[in-house]
Amino acid sequence: MSNIRQRDKEVIWHPYTPMKLWPEAIGIVKGEGLYLEDEDGNRYMDAISSWWVNLHGHSHPHLAEAIHRQFRTLEHAIFAGFTHEPAVELAEKLLAILPGNQRKIFYSDNGSTAVEVALKMSLQYWANKGTPKKKFVALEGAYHGDTFGAMSVSSRSIFTQVFDDKLFDVVFIPFPDGTGDSTRQLEALLAQDDVAAFIAEPLLQGTAGMRTYAPDILEQYFRLCRQRHTLIIADEVLTGFGRTGKLFACDNVATPPDIICLSKGLTGGAMPFGVTACGQHIFDAFYDDDRGKTLYHGHSYTANPLACAVAIASLQLLLADECSASRQRIEQRHTGFRDKIAAHPKVTSSRVCGTMLAIELNTGGATSYTNEQRDFLYRFFIERKILLRPLGNIIYLLPPYCITNEELQYIYATIEELLTIL
Ligand SMILES: Cc1ncc(COP(=O)(O)O)c(C=O)c1O
Repeated sequence: MSNIRQRDKEVIWHPYTPMKLWPEAIGIVKGEGLYLEDEDGNRYMDAISSWWVNLHGHSHPHLAEAIHRQFRTLEHAIFAGFTHEPAVELAEKLLAILPGNQRKIFYSDNGSTAVEVALKMSLQYWANKGTPKKKFVALEGAYHGDTFGAMSVSSRSIFTQVFDDKLFDVVFIPFPDGTGDSTRQLEALLAQDDVAAFIAEPLLQGTAGMRTYAPDILEQYFRLCRQRHTLIIADEVLTGFGRTGKLFACDNVATPPDIICLSKGLTGGAMPFGVTACGQHIFDAFYDDDRGKTLYHGHSYTANPLACAVAIASLQLLLADECSASRQRIEQRHTGFRDKIAAHPKVTSSRVCGTMLAIELNTGGATSYTNEQRDFLYRFFIERKILLRPLGNIIYLLPPYCITNEELQYIYATIEELLTIL
C-alpha cells in the first residue's frame, strides 16, 4: 500500500490549494501538543494552530476525554424541538464570559455559517420590525468566510473575483490609517439611515495580513453605530478565546456589539462548530405569533453534543490561571522579538496583538497574498520543521497557548536565519 501522500493525490481536492502548482500534501499521522507528526516521523511545530483553531495543543487529553465521555451518552440529536445538557451548559458558560448584553446563543457549524447567521439575523431584524434596512458596511481588507453572504461582506479579492457579480453590494470603508477617514466615512454612511449592520473583525484583520488597529478606533465605530441605531456585528471567529489578549477583542471597548460570531478556538480545535450570540433585542424581534418572523435557518448538525462537550472542556482550560499566564508570557516574548528585529532592513513592519506576531517582509514585490516569495517562505520553514503559512510576504505566528519559551526561541531564531538570506 502506498503512503498517505500518494493516495491523497488520487482522491483529494484540498482547500485554498492550487492543485497543479502544489500537488503534494504532507501526510499527518499524529498530533501532540505543539507538534504534528508525519508518516515519515518528522515532527512539525504547528506555529499557526492549524488555521488558528488549536488553542491548547493537539490531542489534548482533557478534550479527548470530553468527547469520549459525551459520545457514550449522546452523540447527536435533532436540535429543533429537542435540546440537551451540553448545548444549554455551553450557552450558559459562553454568556457568562461574553460582553454583558449578550443573551442568546445560536449554534451552527463553522466561522462562515456563524457569519451567515449574523447577516440573516440583521436583515430579518429590521424586516420583522417593519423598518427594512438592507445595506451592510464593512472594512476594506475584511475576510468573513467563503459562503456567499460571508464572501459578500469580505473585501473583493482573488478569493471572490469569479463570484463578484453574484455577491450582494456592501459598502467598504477604508482600513483605519490614523487620518480619521474611515470614521468620517462610516459616520456619513450611517447618516443615511439605511444601514442594517456594520460588520468588522475587531482589532485584528487576519486574512488581510494580520493587520491590527487600536481599540479606540473600534470604540469610535461601535459608538457611531449605536448612536445611529445600526446593528454591530463583531466577527470574533479569529479573535475570540484569548487570541488578542483579553478573552474577546470586544472586551477592549465600552460599546458592546449586538451580535458576535465565534468559531475556530471555540472547541480548542477539536470539532467544527460555530456560534452566533446576540442581545435580547435581536431575539425579541423574532419572538412573535407570526410564523413569518421565524429565523428559518439551521443545519443538520446544529448544536452537535460532541462539539458542545468539547467546547465546554476547552473553556475550562482557557479559563484556568495557567492559560492566561501562558498567553501573557507568549505576548511578552513576541514583543521582545518584535523589538529586536523591527529595524532590520528586510522587515517592512512588525506587530504583536496578544499571541499573534506578524512580520511583513521586504521581499521586493508588493505586499500581497499572492506575493511570489510566498512559496519560498513556506518551504523555508517546513524544511526546518515549522508550519508557518505566510500570507504572501507576511509571516506570522499564532501558536497554541502550550508553546514553551524554548520552542518560541527556536522559531524566532529560524526567522532571524531567514532574514540573513533574504
Ligand atoms: C474573521 C473570520 N471570520 C470568518 C472566518 C470563516 O471561518 P471558517 O473558515 O470556519 O468558515 C474566518 C476564517 O479564517 C475568519 O478569520
